[in-house]
Amino acid sequence: MNTCIVGLQWGDEGKGKIVDILAEQHDITVRYSGGANAGHTVVVGDDRFALHILPSGVVRPDTICVIANAVVVDPDTLIKEIDALTQKNITLTRRLFISENAHVVLDYHKKEDQLREEALGNNKIGTTIRGIGPCYADKVGRSHAIRMSDFANLTTLQAKLKTIVEYKNKIFTSLYNAESVSADEIFEKCKSYADQLLPFTIDTTEFLHKSIAAGKSVLFEGAQGTLLDLDHGTFPYVTSSNSSSLGMSAGSGIPARMVNKFIGVVKTYTTRVGAGPFPTEQDNDIGQYIRDKGNEYGTTTGRPRRCGWFDAVAVSYSATIGGIDSVALMHLDTLTGLKEIKICKAYKIDGKVVTFFPANTERLSQAIPIYETLSGWGDDITEVNDFDDLPIDAQHFVCLVEEIIKRPVTIIGVGPKRSQTIFR
Ligand code: GDP
Ligand code: IMO
Ligand code: MG
Repeated sequence: MNTCIVGLQWGDEGKGKIVDILAEQHDITVRYSGGANAGHTVVVGDDRFALHILPSGVVRPDTICVIANAVVVDPDTLIKEIDALTQKNITLTRRLFISENAHVVLDYHKKEDQLREEALGNNKIGTTIRGIGPCYADKVGRSHAIRMSDFANLTTLQAKLKTIVEYKNKIFTSLYNAESVSADEIFEKCKSYADQLLPFTIDTTEFLHKSIAAGKSVLFEGAQGTLLDLDHGTFPYVTSSNSSSLGMSAGSGIPARMVNKFIGVVKTYTTRVGAGPFPTEQDNDIGQYIRDKGNEYGTTTGRPRRCGWFDAVAVSYSATIGGIDSVALMHLDTLTGLKEIKICKAYKIDGKVVTFFPANTERLSQAIPIYETLSGWGDDITEVNDFDDLPIDAQHFVCLVEEIIKRPVTIIGVGPKRSQTIFR
């Protein structure tokens, strides 16, 4: 049984928690896109892990972890993450595999990300400044890209870096009037990355196909969310990879037909970090209530997340393009205490009722949500582990979500811990 987990909103849906839970039933967990812009939280007992680049299955000692081709690897973050886990006696030897074809994020990518955002001023995308856009741009451009396999030949790498850094420095100094970076310093760092990361670097496509042929089960972990997908999200306010489930095949080398189940992860409300249209946003007391109760502050950047009502138009779109079979609905507990709860079931754009999500940013920014209003509930639900024991209004909420998005909700989150999960 191979499974793919993917966020159906603008990221931070609770993918880390679901991957950690389902990793127990799979042999291998694979990250297939994005980079250290992701922040996936796993809570085990009193320990809280914030994973940026390692697959969230990593905290289970028997899980094999793969970082596949389309991930952009930030060696600094990865090495820090490996060290932090080792300190907690979670070792990665012989169970972490990094694709030799994965592209590498270096310091000049992060600098370029920052300078570009600063120059955009009010029009900035609100990136995580993790160098994601510049690294993927170099990958697509081909001539200035560094991949994990380049660490195996330091002489060639040094020459490549010289050319690339010369080019980048022209941009930094002429275009942005900023300091240049040193190719020698970056090369010295790369030597240390090579020492530490080459032992993990393999052909992950071969490894995954051979593992599946041998009967191993694989869990694919999406990063970001479908609405941040470069081709299908709310461009230009997106990330630079195919963060929907459509990126799974290209990212890992495993065809979608070999995946038995696609599970979409959503929250009972919507959040967004960074700029871009957000029709159901509640920039008011309700948004603040959700932010405080749901602890909606970025795992990677600490930024307060923009919060709003559940947008079933957006989620239906994500579920449709993602081929989603069932849904994990997280943070039901966060809505506790609200008198009324709203679900957006359609938009009005130019006086017309629209139910198919317009990813086009201009049209989306004109969307006026049409809401269904439900009664809230007051009882604490964080210890409930049976659907039938939820307050009737909470059950209604879940059933209405299912009805509008036309997908069964098979997992419900009532808190961050593994045990705070209802299976149906
Ligand atoms: P990811 O990027 O999709 O993995 O999500 P993040 O880790 O960035 O953000 C989700 C946050 O919600 C984390 O702090 C989780 O520990 C927390 N979380 C996940 N599921 C639930 C839930 O059902 N209820 C509550 N209260 N918190 C949850
Ligand atoms: P996880 O995996 C939420 C957002 C950024 C910004 C846009 C582009 O934890 O759900 P980038 O740095 O990728 O160029 O930023 O995408 N973004 C995320 N938002 N969760 C994430 O990851 C995100 N990764 C990127 O805030 O709006
Ligand atoms: Mg996150």
